[in-house]
Amino acid sequence: MTTQPKTAASRSDEAIRKHKEFLWPAVANYYQHPLVADRASMQYLWDVEGNKYLDFFGGIVTVGVGHCNPKVTSKIKAQVDKLQHTSTLFPNEAIVALAEKLAEITPGKLQKSFFTSSGTEANEAAILLARMAGPSYDIVALRHAYSGSSALAKGLTAHAAYRKSGVIGVGVSHAVSPYCYRCPLHLKYPDCGVACANDVEDLIQTGTSGSIAAFIAEPIQGVGGFITPPPEYFKIVYRIVKNYGGLFISDEVQTGFGRTGKKWFGIEQWEVTPDIITCAKSMGNGVPVGATITTSELAGKFQGLTISTFGGNPVTSVAARAVIEVIEEENLRENTHVVGGYLRQQLEALQAKYPLIGDVRGMGMMQALELVRDRATKEPAPAETNQLLERARANGLLIGKGGLHGNVIRLAPPMNISKADVDEGIRLLDKSFAEIKA
Ligand SMILES: Cc1ncc(COP(=O)(O)O)c(C=O)c1O
Repeated sequence: MTTQPKTAASRSDEAIRKHKEFLWPAVANYYQHPLVADRASMQYLWDVEGNKYLDFFGGIVTVGVGHCNPKVTSKIKAQVDKLQHTSTLFPNEAIVALAEKLAEITPGKLQKSFFTSSGTEANEAAILLARMAGPSYDIVALRHAYSGSSALAKGLTAHAAYRKSGVIGVGVSHAVSPYCYRCPLHLKYPDCGVACANDVEDLIQTGTSGSIAAFIAEPIQGVGGFITPPPEYFKIVYRIVKNYGGLFISDEVQTGFGRTGKKWFGIEQWEVTPDIITCAKSMGNGVPVGATITTSELAGKFQGLTISTFGGNPVTSVAARAVIEVIEEENLRENTHVVGGYLRQQLEALQAKYPLIGDVRGMGMMQALELVRDRATKEPAPAETNQLLERARANGLLIGKGGLHGNVIRLAPPMNISKADVDEGIRLLDKSFAEIKA
């Protein structure tokens, strides 16, 4: 009996069916009919049915320098054939080259790296270290934060959907988020005097032992819907954190590696020098690598031993170093600032056209649209957001969503796109908004 070659549609259906059959249902996919990705190149992705998409989400804010960028993949391929694994028990040239480069590009005296395979582990390592180094066990995090998928990281995370049974957030207290569009204190910037920053002090005095090991925050809250604080926020919080003995941990898993424009790390936009930076996602442009970077003094305070089987793997280290080199060689932090600024202008023009767009926010190549049914009441519009995602996919554009209510569109294209790519993305987005049914 001869087997018939699979048609594109049947390949797609089979992958979707097997995904349902063999993966955990909690691992949700986008779209009513999920998109089965086949291949990708720079800003484009193709599904197994042969449809081409302009990718403005990059996995989840991960493809910083373009899908399968040959300047990165060529180095990965060479390393795979040379030396693939050592564990942290043996030094290798790739891990030290990456660590040296990170010491060069990180702000302040951040000089020492601990490598992991994910952002979750990077945050775990940061909290562990802070608790060993600091005056207490207490951690302050922010509401609307997303910190990862382990039990501790879920305890830091502040979205109900990610904190179901089994999450024990011992020693973690959550301050209000600097979410100006939906101010938790019902105030208005700048008359508010950035009162949300002072909530950190109130929380330390009432919800902790009175001193803290660390404060951890994303410079722009990613999963939260690219919540962008007022410029003074982190400076005020930094002073409070230091007054109560804490370390300042900047979770750069989404904002890192030039994503916000001009600077390497998001926290630099707010003129604060953190004690610890955690990163992952676009650090490897799609390979699983993360890092916890701190000062020599703090790194020396880690008690006992630690290993990571895959952290600092030669292949992922080579990839991360290659990503940094591409960003440097092609001046992508500047491109992100300029083209990201252009993207922002075009999004604001769409806001003027569609009342559904309540807020436009973000920085560089990290821009969000918060969709609301009514601009006065700000009632979230999650159903319309889903419709927009579906219409954009049908029109050949991939975009992400986020926000507590699932009503925020997240745009995070590769940092090497041009203004012409923005024009095309905006044309497709415009068409998709026009097709939304009330
Ligand atoms: C800000 C932030 N921190 C940590 C994580 C966890 O990273 P990972 O999924 O690589 O474990 C994420 C993932 O989305 C994130 O957005």
